[in-house]
Amino acid sequence: MRGGNPLLGTIRVSGAKNAALPAMAAALLTEEPVILENIPQVQDIETTRKLLAAMGAEVELGYGRAHHRTTLCCRDLIAPEASYELVKTMRASTLVLGPLVARMGRARVSLPGGCAIGARPIDLHIKGLEKLGATIEQEHGYVLAHAKRLRGGEIFFDKITVTGTEDLLMAACLAEGETLMHNCAREPEVADLAALLNKMGAKIEGAGTATIRIQGVEKLHGARHRIIPDRIEAGTFIIAAVLTGGDLNVAGCEPRHLQALLQKLEDVGVKLMPAVDAVRVIGNGELKASDIITEEYPGFPTDMQAQYMALATQASGSSVITENIFENRFMHAQELVRMGADIKVEGRRAIVRGKTPLSAAAVQASDLRASASLVLAALVADGETIIDRVYHIDRGYERIEEKLRGVGAQMRRIGQLFPKRAAATVATV
Ligand code: UD1
Repeated sequence: MRGGNPLLGTIRVSGAKNAALPAMAAALLTEEPVILENIPQVQDIETTRKLLAAMGAEVELGYGRAHHRTTLCCRDLIAPEASYELVKTMRASTLVLGPLVARMGRARVSLPGGCAIGARPIDLHIKGLEKLGATIEQEHGYVLAHAKRLRGGEIFFDKITVTGTEDLLMAACLAEGETLMHNCAREPEVADLAALLNKMGAKIEGAGTATIRIQGVEKLHGARHRIIPDRIEAGTFIIAAVLTGGDLNVAGCEPRHLQALLQKLEDVGVKLMPAVDAVRVIGNGELKASDIITEEYPGFPTDMQAQYMALATQASGSSVITENIFENRFMHAQELVRMGADIKVEGRRAIVRGKTPLSAAAVQASDLRASASLVLAALVADGETIIDRVYHIDRGYERIEEKLRGVGAQMRRIGQLFPKRAAATVATV
């Protein structure tokens, strides 16, 4: 990548990966076809396709200009299993656990194990399923769950978990009787999943709030659903416009889902013009340092923390960034320092002192959002940056280099899209 160009014009946001993944898992709950539109063309979706296909599901991914449509049909499921091979590349694979026990009466799903950004256990998924009457055993690194038919129950999440809420929400739809879940995740992706499930015949109230009530039904049927826009991709493009001093219309997004970020950017001194389904960013003023604390929705998202850190390097003063959700999510800090940033990490806090000019370097992506922060830094760095291990970015950003190039960024991919790990180096002009 070569930095220095302001981003100008219109950039389109894709469908939300984190809404698409549970929606695909929801197709396991019915014998009938589920049609999903606005599915992003990213590696995690491909991993989910493989995961479902290995169970005997028919999955057609139809990427067109107008719709990114997927049709899933889980009529004949042969193996209710998620193997370690797939779970280790994408932790969200554990989203199949609840639907499989609910529909098939059994599931064998690999435990996710360690992760670059923290421990990420699934104890809350397991505890919740037990509350719904499932018997759970663990052996050889796998969770084995059984239940003749799940029955409704009352679940209190000790900690707010997004995929945990989604997993149990799906399971409870086919349980006998009523389930009441407390301290649920309130992310828009949870509400989107509930909207799909209700179209499939489920009876869910309260999704998007902390308490969700589910009246179990015998069967679910097919449905058609459009996935909500990706608020993290939108947020990343907004920061790209700010950093480059551009004038960018981030189109096809849902500004309501971006409130915490937009408010923070106003504190930083950014001029924003939100519309119904777009945000125009005019990024030509001085940026002032401002602190953030990551929190569950509607707080500032942990998935925007790394990108905000790249922005903070260009703001005047000290910004304190506190990461509350994951214990080890500052690996991008060291790479930003190699590009000239002044960042000190103390436990769960990072102190960024700005403004420091960034200079291009060879850097390495460590996880999905960390790689986005390196792309952002490279957009304003002096010279040519090479980002290695960009397979991380392909997990969650659809053709990022094409989209950013379309609004003026100088970047190109070296190697193919979705490359194998060994061949995954990339990006210079
Ligand atoms: C989801 C998102 C991810 C985002 C994260 C937090 C998807 C596919 N991924 O991940 O992009 O960064 O929410 O917004 O939607 N925890 C437990 N026990 C459990 C489950 C979670 O202790 O059983 C802990 C985790 O270690 C973490 C916290 O709860 O510290 C939140 O994790 P969680 O909300 O579950 O994250 P994911 O759903 O995996």
